[in-house]
Amino acid sequence: MTLSIIVATDEAGAIGLRGGLPWDHPEDRAHFERETRGHAVIMGRRTWEEVGQPLEGRANVVVSSRFTPPAGVLVAPTLAEAVARARELDPSPFVIGGARLFREATAIADQVWLTEIPGRHEADAFFVLDEGVSTREALEARGFEVVEDRLGEGGVRFVRLVRGRG
Ligand SMILES: NC(=O)c1ccc[n+]([C@@H]2O[C@H](COP(=O)([O-])OP(=O)(O)OC[C@H]3O[C@@H](n4cnc5c(N)ncnc54)[C@H](OP(=O)(O)O)[C@@H]3O)[C@@H](O)[C@H]2O)c1
Repeated sequence: MTLSIIVATDEAGAIGLRGGLPWDHPEDRAHFERETRGHAVIMGRRTWEEVGQPLEGRANVVVSSRFTPPAGVLVAPTLAEAVARARELDPSPFVIGGARLFREATAIADQVWLTEIPGRHEADAFFVLDEGVSTREALEARGFEVVEDRLGEGGVRFVRLVRGRG
């Protein structure tokens, strides 16, 4: 049983702009598609509104206190309950955003798929764990270890971190 986070951040920790992503990166979209397909995905209500419809081939769980889900979409009022609902369908769900869920999930996730987008972008949603350090460094400070680090197009890095045993 693995709980994963999948997130893309730039050098300032930006993750979102006006309800969408601050960048257009097809390779990252393909990476997201490949890694999450067949799994349950857990997302906040605003991320759900951006996605607009259930992500195909995945069980969709939305965390919200007030959302009425369409048929086939699950809703839970807390991350813990969302993880429990997701695990009824998939032992290895993914937390796919946004900011608050990423921060909360960092404390309980076993694995983080981190896409490092070079540069700084206009943004209004950020995943910043510690001021002044990169997301990778902040995760390492919390006991995560880099087990994969692949260079993609345009200087993007696809990094996988797992929680260390020690
Ligand atoms: N770069 C990336 O990897 C990535 C990934 C995902 C999203 N994004 C971007 O991030 C932005 C959206 O993120 P966001 O942080 O603004 O919103 P969000 O987390 O998607 O949604 C926020 C809402 O979700 C519910 N929620 C979130 N965490 C909760 C928790 N721990 N407990 C209970 N309820 C919780 C609440 O809904 P209620 O108010 O209904 O109770 C809250 O108002 C968009 O721009 C999106 O494109 C980027």
